[in-house]
Amino acid sequence: MTDARINPSILAADFVNMQAELARIATADFVHVDVMDNHFVPNLTFGTQMVERIQATSPVPLDVHLMISDADRWAPAYAELGAASVTFHVEAASAPVTLARRLRSIGSRAGVAVKPTTPVEPLFDVLDEFDQILVMTVDPGFGGQAFMADQMGKLSRLADEARRRGSEVWLQVDGGISASTIEQAAAAGADTFVAGSAVFGADDPENAISALRTAAGRHTHARTR
Ligand code: DX5
Ligand code: ZN
Repeated sequence: MTDARINPSILAADFVNMQAELARIATADFVHVDVMDNHFVPNLTFGTQMVERIQATSPVPLDVHLMISDADRWAPAYAELGAASVTFHVEAASAPVTLARRLRSIGSRAGVAVKPTTPVEPLFDVLDEFDQILVMTVDPGFGGQAFMADQMGKLSRLADEARRRGSEVWLQVDGGISASTIEQAAAAGADTFVAGSAVFGADDPENAISALRTAAGRHTHARTR
């Protein structure tokens, strides 16, 4: 099993010092970029113009998390600007498989996210259409919320299904991930971890990243054995 992937969320960074903030997380696997439209979620961040500058500036590849309505229409632009991974919400897409294929054809990894109240079972038959499934462990919209341990059942059912199918899909968790919650998520089958406040709120973000990676690694199980 490769090491757990740690993707710091710049939602917790200082937006007016973004270049310096990105330099503080150069040892991360990806930088997690939360795009919010004040419609799908009750908060607003930024759009393609800002993400294009982050793409040009970041020392690590981009993991874009789109919390926006009408994903079918808007998501491809993030793949076109060069994001390594683009994740849209299944609740916001009218044709998720068609959209995932389009993202892959442009050259990015295709991810699909589910809110805490959204079941994951409908995705089982189309797992191979995606490179990443994001199980939200908070209601999307804001950083700094408490980890929802009640999402672990959903995550482990998804991990079991992926194992059964021999799928290479990455299982990501986002929301409330810290040194004290990451082991539960890893034990339930996550291999890719978003952390905002736990990384940018630390005195030394690179130390925080390596501590999270180590804690996750202690509990991560190989997909196939
Ligand atoms: C929440 C965002 C998260 C957020 C996580 O809607 O999708 O990526 O930044 O922040 P923390 O790690 O502070 O819960
Ligand atoms: Zn996110």
